[in-house]
Amino acid sequence: MDSFEYDLVVTNGICVTATDIATYDVAVKGEKIAFLAPSGSLATANARRIINAEGGYVTPGGVDCHVHLEEPALFGRGTSSDTYETGTRSAIAGGCTTIVAFAPQPKHQPSLLKALEETHARARSNSYCDYGFHLLVGNPGEQALSEFETLVNHEGVSSLKIYMTYAALQLRDDQILSVLLKARQHRIFTMVHAENGDVLNWLTDQLESKKLFAPKYHSHSRPPVLEAEATNRAIALSSLISNTPILLVHVSDPGATRRIREAQSAGQPIFAETCPQYLFLTRSDLEKPGFEGAKCVCSPPPRDKASQDVIWTGVRNGTFSVLSSDHCPFNYDDAQSGKMTCINHEHPVGRFKEIPNGIPGIETRLPLVFSSGKLALTKFVEVTSTNPAKLYGLYPAKGSLIPGVSDADLVVWYPDGNLPNVTLTNSMLHHATDYTPYEGRTIANWPRYTILRGRIIWDRDNGGVLSEKSFGRFVKRGPSNFENMWEVVEEQGEFDVAAL
Ligand code: URP
Ligand code: ZN
Ligand code: ZN
Repeated sequence: MDSFEYDLVVTNGICVTATDIATYDVAVKGEKIAFLAPSGSLATANARRIINAEGGYVTPGGVDCHVHLEEPALFGRGTSSDTYETGTRSAIAGGCTTIVAFAPQPKHQPSLLKALEETHARARSNSYCDYGFHLLVGNPGEQALSEFETLVNHEGVSSLKIYMTYAALQLRDDQILSVLLKARQHRIFTMVHAENGDVLNWLTDQLESKKLFAPKYHSHSRPPVLEAEATNRAIALSSLISNTPILLVHVSDPGATRRIREAQSAGQPIFAETCPQYLFLTRSDLEKPGFEGAKCVCSPPPRDKASQDVIWTGVRNGTFSVLSSDHCPFNYDDAQSGKMTCINHEHPVGRFKEIPNGIPGIETRLPLVFSSGKLALTKFVEVTSTNPAKLYGLYPAKGSLIPGVSDADLVVWYPDGNLPNVTLTNSMLHHATDYTPYEGRTIANWPRYTILRGRIIWDRDNGGVLSEKSFGRFVKRGPSNFENMWEVVEEQGEFDVAAL
């Protein structure tokens, strides 16, 4: 029996939540935040461990609800370069304490529960951070739809993602409607990948007929109007099913952003996410010579500088509720399962339509955005931790610093100016991917400590990753509790085709 009053104290920090910035000492008992005390008052407390934040910011652990790990080939020919082990190791080194990753249901598989079980098997005892799953619905047949109830009421899975593109996953509009209707009935939140797959396939054929194969033509095959059209269609389909809440993922285009804003202003439950690739990369990264541009092939593709500015504004004004990584990693220099699978004798600079879509970014998300200085710190916490936790049914255990309620998930940053600028290189990251699209960027701050449920799992200056891959836990999620989303749905009544 030990006689410590607290398990951990973080003293002399500046605590930032989505609504406040104030100096407090944070006391942790067991896995929870016990209380916030006046700054310095716990400096000599009877605690098992005291961290002196030395005036650095203390934020809730990052919550990243758009993560792909150990998925089969769905987005081109390659397979994920990160396992649950390596991806979540990378997450904690970048200040992320909870992820929601995808459990993919391939088209040939009728059951969602089977897909979930297989994903559990991959993640179990292999995760450094806490985790949940969204179902990735590839085949919304009778069986899959009948399993929604079990997912939400028994399995702790309250969200899913559907696709309007990719041969392996694309749903027709009637299938989307069936998913939205069932999701509404069971209070499941639906994420939508909005790009018009048929149009992009047609454009791809046009490009190929002109022998335009290089990575940069990925952009030409997916011009902004494809995203704007699909976004508009997704919003229309949601409104048809009595305004079923949806979230447009990885938004890159100003036209799509305007349409989302318009729907929100009209009171529709339309939510949106963007990602660092649309804030820090542009089309010119895809246009690098040779095959280099493949490092930035993701969908939608990074746009131009003017679009970046619109996306930043959308983060600041609340059009985007969440800023996720969309970590979807493939090795670059890998002809077996990575980006280079599409290089052959016939296509010496590759074939863009076969380049696996996706980029790594789970570790760099928080440092890049924090260091950019482009968001108020409260907004930074809101979009990278609090809102994702609320949207995906993890709040208030995750995403906040509420005494007695929130898990003691914390990031302690270096005091401003204390960390000499860091030049980002792939060698300093903890994923298993052979590149970062942000190589050479200057970063002003980095998580100094990451704490998960009261345990220090990352100490940048003393040992780096300190925990084991079995420490992360599956978190059963409840329904979304963002902006009373489901109460509003309740008030609107159920979908009635005869009332249309
Ligand atoms: O290019 C991307 N975004 N790859 C990941 C798959 C997806 O659609 O999120
Ligand atoms: Zn997507
Ligand atoms: Zn994704």
